[in-house]
Amino acid sequence: MTARVGSRVDGVEESIYKPYNGRIIWMREETPDITTFRVALEEHEVVDSFTSFKPGNFVLASVIGYGEAPFAISSPPSQRGSIEISVKRLGVLTQVLHELCVEDRIGLRGPYGNDFLRGEPKGKNLLFVAGGIGMAPIRSLIHHVLDDRKSYGEITILYGAKSIADIPYKKEFKRWDRMDGVDVVLTVDPGGETPDWDGRIGYVPNILTELNTSPKNCLAFVCGPQIVIKLSAQTLSNWGFKSRDIISTLENRMKCGIGKCGRCNVGHIYVCKHGPVFTYEEIMKMPNSDY
Ligand SMILES: Cc1cc2nc3c(=O)[nH]c(=O)nc-3n(C[C@H](O)[C@H](O)[C@H](O)COP(=O)(O)OP(=O)(O)OC[C@H]3O[C@@H](n4cnc5c(N)ncnc54)[C@H](O)[C@@H]3O)c2cc1C
Ligand code: FES
Repeated sequence: MTARVGSRVDGVEESIYKPYNGRIIWMREETPDITTFRVALEEHEVVDSFTSFKPGNFVLASVIGYGEAPFAISSPPSQRGSIEISVKRLGVLTQVLHELCVEDRIGLRGPYGNDFLRGEPKGKNLLFVAGGIGMAPIRSLIHHVLDDRKSYGEITILYGAKSIADIPYKKEFKRWDRMDGVDVVLTVDPGGETPDWDGRIGYVPNILTELNTSPKNCLAFVCGPQIVIKLSAQTLSNWGFKSRDIISTLENRMKCGIGKCGRCNVGHIYVCKHGPVFTYEEIMKMPNSDY
């Protein structure tokens, strides 16, 4: 993690909440309500530290007058000099972000939080399970793993969306599926298919039960809505996965992003600071855990 600390500018302590200036240098409309933005920082002196993130880290993106919100970094660390975030249109800020164009400016703070590499995935088989916008943090990790393909075992990627039109990163899924030892399984909710759809039809946790992945030397990364995490983790546990080998990321509401305001806490755990990446073992131990 490369948390920004206050520094002195002309004798004045710089606020830790002050965002860097980001410039959108590329964007892609993934689905009707998800757009990916590639953002470069204008403060050249911080580019290296800002882009030395790890998969699973998040940033706080802002537009003046419309607020600030956390987004997972969806690009891999190997993409030096810029980061990507994939934003699902939901409310005030995300709507405004969707109205921006290349060359427009946004504020960026971070990178914050812990990361997926805490699971020590090297040398292991990896199972990725994601639903909806939960694919954004997983995409960063998949690219990171495939950048060093020989260091990992078999890779299975299960992703589900409401409909075919709602599947982001379509070309990447195709490319990954053509790689040796990588199996991509795409599914859409019942009714979200077209007659020529050659993927699966069904909800992610149901399709997962058909994969029957061996827990031997395998780590599972599960991201998406709470119900997807809960049901998928139950299936994985039934197959013999240890709860510490099931890794997820939580999306609790956040404000400061750096463990100061208490907006994101679950008991004594600050999701922004101690997470957002947790093992299922840790999630189950959280107060009033509904997973
Ligand atoms: C660590 C982390 C990583 C995230 N990564 C991504 C990402 O990669 N891509 C992405 O699109 N989104 C991501 N989110 C969620 C994103 O932060 C929210 O969608 C965003 O804050 C909505 O802002 P808004 O101003 O558009 O919505 P608002 O106008 O604030 O709210 C619109 C509606 O969404 C609800 N809402 C807002 N935030 C959340 C939330 N965190 N959980 C559930 N409901 C919420 C509100 O209650 C309201 O009903 C992440 C959240 C966290 C905590
Ligand atoms: S968002 Fe402020 S403490 Fe986590």
